[in-house]
Amino acid sequence: MSAEEVHVVFTPSGRRGRFRAGTSVLDAARGLGVDIDAVCGGRAICGRCQVEVSEGEHAKLGIDSRADHLAPAGPGELAYAREHGMREGRRLACTACLVGDVVVDVPPESQVHRQVVRKEAEVRQIELDPVVRLYYVEVREPALERPSGDLRRLREALEREWGLVGLEVDPEALRALPGALREGRWGVTVAVHDGTAITAVWPGYHDQALGIAFDVGSTTVAGHLCDLSSGEVLASAGAMNPQIRFGEDLMSRVSYVMLNPGSQAELTKVVRECLRKLVGELVAAAGARRTDVLEVTVVGNPIMHHLLLGIDPTPLGVAPFALATDEAVRLRARELELKVHPGARVYALPLIAGHVGADTAGVILAEGPHLSDELTLLVDVGTNAEIVLGNRDRLLAASSPTGPAFEGAQISGGQRAAPGAIERVRIDRETLEPRFRVIGTEAWSDEPAFEGTLVTGICGSGIIEAIAEMFLAGIVTPAGVIDGSLASRTPRIVRQERTFGYVLSGAQPRIVITQHDVRAIQLAKGALYAGCRLLMDRLGVERVDRIRLAGAFGSHIDPFHALVLGLVPDCDLDRVSAAGNAAGTGARIALLNRAARTEIEEVVRRVEKVETAVEPRFQEHFIGAMGIPHATDPFERLAAVVPFPRRTEAGAGAGREGRRRSRA
Ligand code: FES
Repeated sequence: MSAEEVHVVFTPSGRRGRFRAGTSVLDAARGLGVDIDAVCGGRAICGRCQVEVSEGEHAKLGIDSRADHLAPAGPGELAYAREHGMREGRRLACTACLVGDVVVDVPPESQVHRQVVRKEAEVRQIELDPVVRLYYVEVREPALERPSGDLRRLREALEREWGLVGLEVDPEALRALPGALREGRWGVTVAVHDGTAITAVWPGYHDQALGIAFDVGSTTVAGHLCDLSSGEVLASAGAMNPQIRFGEDLMSRVSYVMLNPGSQAELTKVVRECLRKLVGELVAAAGARRTDVLEVTVVGNPIMHHLLLGIDPTPLGVAPFALATDEAVRLRARELELKVHPGARVYALPLIAGHVGADTAGVILAEGPHLSDELTLLVDVGTNAEIVLGNRDRLLAASSPTGPAFEGAQISGGQRAAPGAIERVRIDRETLEPRFRVIGTEAWSDEPAFEGTLVTGICGSGIIEAIAEMFLAGIVTPAGVIDGSLASRTPRIVRQERTFGYVLSGAQPRIVITQHDVRAIQLAKGALYAGCRLLMDRLGVERVDRIRLAGAFGSHIDPFHALVLGLVPDCDLDRVSAAGNAAGTGARIALLNRAARTEIEEVVRRVEKVETAVEPRFQEHFIGAMGIPHATDPFERLAAVVPFPRRTEAGAGAGREGRRRSRA
C-alpha cells in the first residue's frame, strides 16, 4: 500500500477498494458503486448518508479497522449532529474522510435501494426505488453579465450535481421556482418524477416525499400512506365505497348507469370524494400535509377502475366485456380531484380482462407467481372470484361468478364481517353441539368470558366453517343435504317445512343454518372450484403446488375449512394460506418500486385470459363441485389429514340442482 492510499471495505455489499487518504467515504462508496443515499448532495444537511465504522481486527480482510481511521468530524457534521442528533458511532459519509484502513457498514436506512420489510417471510421483498426522488441543489445566482433564466440555471445545477439531463418541468413547478430559489437563497429541493420531469420545487432542503397506495374495492376503499424515502407505511385508512347506494354489487352499479343516463358522473364523483377524504385522514394520522403527497397508485376491479377514472363502465356489463383500456394509466392527481401536491401523479395498474382487474394485477405483483417454478393458484374471493394459476412459464387468469353468498348475503342469518358476526365455528362430532366465536370477542361461546356477548349474525368465514363442520360431524351429507334423521339425536336439528336446519345459536337473534344457506354456499363454491379447475385443465395439470387466498374474505377463511368444503381444489393443507390484502400490497409495491410497474405491465400482457362463461366444461366442473368436498374428486391430500364421514349419495342430488340452476 502506498503511503497516501487507504484500504476500505463496505459492508454488507463487500465492495472494497483503495483510495487516496482524504477521500470522503461517500466518494469512495460512489467509486465502488456502493449504494448510499445522499439527497443533499453531500452538504451535511440531509443526514441520509450515515455510516458506521465496524471496529476491530478483520483478519479475513486484512484490515485493522478503527473509528479514528476516519478524520474527526468537521464543522458541517458537528452542526448536523447538534441540530438533529446522531447515534453514537455514526458518521456522515459525505463529510467523513478516510485516513486509515476501515470497514464501513452502510445501515439499511442509508441505502438507496434498501429492502422494505414485509411481515410475511414467504412473500417477495420490496426493493425501495420509488418513481419520485428528491434532489437538493444549489443554483447559480442570476447575474447581469451572464443573463439566463432560473429554470436554465436549475437544469445546469441538476446536471452538474446529479447528472440529470433533459428534464421537463410541470407548469406548477415552474411557477413555484422563482420564489423558492429566492426564499431558499438559491438552494432548492426538487422532486423528479421517473427521471424525466420536475414536478415540485421547495425552498431550501425538503425531505418529505409521501405516496398513497389505494385499493378501490366495490365494498370498501383502502389507502396506505407511505414514506417514499423509507418505504414505511405511515398510516392506513379505509372507508365504505359510497357507490354502494347506487347498487350493492358491481353489476347493479353498471345497471344503474345503464338505466340512468348521465349517472356515471355521480358515481365517479362520490368515489373520488371518498378517496379525497381518505387522503385527508391519512395525512392527518401521519401529521403530514396533503401537499407532501407526490405519488398515488391505484388498484381496483375493472368497473371501479373505469368509474374512478371517469370512463363509461357500461361495455363491461355485457359480453364481450370490453375494457376501455387494459394498459396502465398514468395521469395527474388533480385530474382525479385528489387534492394532494399539484404536481402529484397517479399510476393505475393495468387491467387483465373484462372481469379481471388491476386488483388482480396487484395480487400478481405482491405474490409473484411469475417468478416461481411452483405452480401457484391465487384466489381473490369476493362477489366475483378472480383466479390466477401458473408459474414462471405460463400464467392464466379467469373470473368466476361466485355471487355474494361468501360475503354473508343471501344467507338467512348472514351479515358483513363486523363486530357481533359469528366468524369461527366448531361442532362436536359426538354431541353435535356447536361452539363459536364472534368478531370483536376473543372468548368462545362455551367459555364464561363469552357471557353477555351480542351475536348479530354470521359472516362469510363463519358460514364456511359452519357448513364444513356440519359436514365433518355428519349433519350435512356429501350432497349438501341437512340430515333430518339426526333430529332424534339433537334438538339442534329442526324441521323447516320440507327441509331441515341446524340451530347454531339459540339466543336472540336465533342463528339457524338452513338448507337454503347450504345450497347458496354450494353454488358459490361450485363456481369457484369450477373456475380453478378450468384453469388447471387449460394448463393440463391435476394438482397445484400451493394455494394463496387473497382479499379480506380469503384472509379470514380458515384454509382447513375452505378445503373441507371444496372451495378450491385439493392441496396439501400446509400449502394453503392467506395472502392478506395482496391487491393493496401490489399497489404499494408499484408505489415504492418503479421497476415493478414495467414488470407488471409486461406480466399482464402475457397472462392468458380464460372466459369461464364460454367454456363448455365449466358446467361439468360446477356440477361435480356441488358435492362436499366434491362429488368425484376424492380430495386425497385432505383426506390424509382429516377423516371424512362415509360417502353415501356422492353429491347426486346437488348435481341435479346444479344442473337446474344455470350459472347466470
Ligand atoms: S449527503 Fe446529505 S448529509 Fe451527507
